[in-house]
Parts: sequence; C-alpha cells; structure tokens
Amino acid sequence: MEVCGVPATTTSAFSWTSSISPSSFHVSQPLSSKGGFKGFKIFCVIQDAQPQKMTISVTGATGFIGRRLVKRLHADNHSIKVLTRSKSQAQSIFPDREFPGIVIAEESDWKNCIQGSSAVVNLAGMPISTRWSPEIKKEIKQSRIKVTSKVVEAINELEEAMRPAVLVSATAVGYYGTSETQVFDEQSPSGSDYLAEVCREWESTALKVDNKVRLVRIRIGVALGRDGGALAKMIPIFMMFAGGPLGSGKQWFSWIHVDDLVSLIYEALQNPTYEGVINATAPNPVRLGEMCSHLGSVLGRPSWLPVPDLALKAVLGEGATVVLEGQRVLPAKAKELGFSFKYPYVKEALKAILS
Ligand SMILES: NC(=O)c1ccc[n+]([C@@H]2O[C@H](COP(=O)([O-])OP(=O)(O)OC[C@H]3O[C@@H](n4cnc5c(N)ncnc54)[C@H](OP(=O)(O)O)[C@@H]3O)[C@@H](O)[C@H]2O)c1
Repeated sequence: MEVCGVPATTTSAFSWTSSISPSSFHVSQPLSSKGGFKGFKIFCVIQDAQPQKMTISVTGATGFIGRRLVKRLHADNHSIKVLTRSKSQAQSIFPDREFPGIVIAEESDWKNCIQGSSAVVNLAGMPISTRWSPEIKKEIKQSRIKVTSKVVEAINELEEAMRPAVLVSATAVGYYGTSETQVFDEQSPSGSDYLAEVCREWESTALKVDNKVRLVRIRIGVALGRDGGALAKMIPIFMMFAGGPLGSGKQWFSWIHVDDLVSLIYEALQNPTYEGVINATAPNPVRLGEMCSHLGSVLGRPSWLPVPDLALKAVLGEGATVVLEGQRVLPAKAKELGFSFKYPYVKEALKAILS
C-alpha cells in the first residue's frame, strides 16, 4: 500500500482546525504485481482548512499591538469589534474604506459587543513609557484593572450560551521582576517590584472570568515593530549616541517581533489547547549589549559609545526600567504547544523591521 507524501508546506493544514473527511481520500486503480499481490494507491486530497470565522471584541485595538492584530484578523475576514474610549480616534485609525464592516464601540456599548462575540482580546492599558509620578503609577495599574474588570463582568453577566468561548488577556514579562542571572518561564514565581505587582493584579482580575470561558494570559516581552513600542522610541536616541550599548549592556532583553506576537494571539483565539499563562517572548532573548550591536549593524551605525541611562530615561521615563533592568524569559509553553516563531533571532527580526 502506498500513501502519498505530504509536502512540508501543507502539513500545517493538519492543525486542529482541519478535518479529514472520507471524501479527502481517493483510492486509485488496484496495482498489479507479479507476485499476485494487489495493492492500492491512496491519494490524500488535502483541502485548505477553512478556519472558522470569529467575531472578536478587542480592547486596546487602537494601540501598537492591537492595530497589527486587527489588521490581520480583518484581512482573514473575521468580524472585529473595537472596544475603545474614543470612537472618533478609533474611526481615524480604522477608516471604513479600509476596514469595511468593523464595529467601533465606546464603553457604554462594550457589553452589547461582547455579547455577540465568540472571543475577546484584552490589550488596553495606559502606556508605561512615561514619568512615573505616584499618580501615574496608580493610573498605569488602575487603567488595566478597570478595563479588565469591565470585560470580565460583561462576560460573566451573560447567560452561558451567549458567552464568548475565549478571553485572551494581555499581561507582561514584568510579572517575573528583573534579574541578570535568573531564567524565567511560566512556572517561575512573580517578582517583588512595582511592575510585578501591576501584572499580578492585572492577571488576577482576568482570572475572575467564569471558568467555562477559556482564559489565556499572554505575558508579553518587549514587542519589536517599526511603528510603535520601545524600539521606535529607542532608535532616535541610539542614532544620536552613535549606537552603543544602553546602560551596562548586560541586562537581559526578552523581545518578540510584533508579527510573532500577533500570530500567538491569533493561535490562542483559535486553538483550544492554548490555555493559562503563555510567555510571548522569542526563544532567544539576548543581553541588551548584543541587541544594540545588532541594531547598530542593521542601522549601519558604529556600536561603541554607550547611550547614557539618562538619555533613555528622558524618552521612556521610569518605563525605561523595562529596558535597563531586564529579565531573561523563555517561551516554554509556546514551544510545548508547537508554536513556530517566524523570528527566533533578534538580528533577523531587526533586519525585517528596519530594512
Ligand atoms: N508593546 C509592548 O512591548 C508590550 C510589552 C508588554 C506588555 N504589553 C501590554 O500589551 C498591551 C498592548 O500594548 P501596546 O504596546 O499595543 O499598547 P499601546 O500602544 O499603549 O495601546 C494601548 C491601548 O490601551 C488603551 N489605553 C491607553 N490608555 C488607557 C487608559 N488610561 N485607560 C484605558 N485604556 C487605555 C488605548 O486604547 P483606546 O484609546 O482605544 O481606548 C490604547 O490604544 C498593553 O496593555 C501593554 O501593557 C505591551
């Protein structure tokens, strides 16, 4: 019996979303053989799996990560509901001519949107790259808890049959605290600094969602992309200082290309085996000195003059601690789940972003 080979490029069609129906198999004419044995050739006809269309409500959709995610989901014909604080601002980011059919809702309408959704992605939160006055620190934490509570309450108040099947809620690798020597994965305990406290409270708010809703907490590393996040802010100072290391250069930098992050969130929406905490960091974190030397080579800048901490703090505020005091975080769960990173190495990620 001969079974057809499946080219590597089509094996992904055998993900959980695919089904192999009896009609996928075609049995050809029997083979004649001199020894009297008659075998059959079986051809598998692999049809492209039609992913189920989802309706997804997204908080923080107007942000750096959210915009990328919405673009991908919309391109794949999923229905999107943008849950925002400002309809007019969201409409300018997602104009109807480019995003036909997209629903944009302010807070009073969030619950209605969530009711009609099969999934929710929760990305909202006040940016941390600011000066951290006591009031701002409070707002950084409260903004995340408030939006997450609102989403969780809206889900829990619905009748079971009307609830979205999955909530993918953002959190950050700041959960683990910072260290130059330790290696963190999803099993590691939380740290003791301010960002760790923010992440713990943010996650415990998400954990209040009804336990029949699949909850995925994505602990995001530094997301790298051209049009936002830390990299966009770091590049101008880096250029100004001839591109040397930031701070001591020994700190760990747990990064992820924003496209891989979007793919991970997308997979978490569709794949029921994705549940609990998943670190969203590339499999090869680097020390910041190495990151800067790759950045220098990609930007064509010599990488020798250290960028003073003060310069970085001037643009990132105390939020610079994320870069200046890093942590080495590994994506153990994503690897166990078989997630394939398009950009496992920072040099290739930077080249793709900056070329
Ligand atoms: N970017 C990274 O490297 C990174 C790393 C780790 C974790 N994360 C987390 O991932 C999430 C998305 O990141 P991002 O970089 O896309 O964030 P972002 O660009 O700062 O966007 C976040 C969105 O949150 C909403 N928002 C802003 N301030 C708010 C406030 N005070 N109260 C309520 N909502 C507010 C805004 O949406 P509306 O104006 O439409 O309401 C904004 O578009 C954030 O929660 C962030 O902490 C990001």
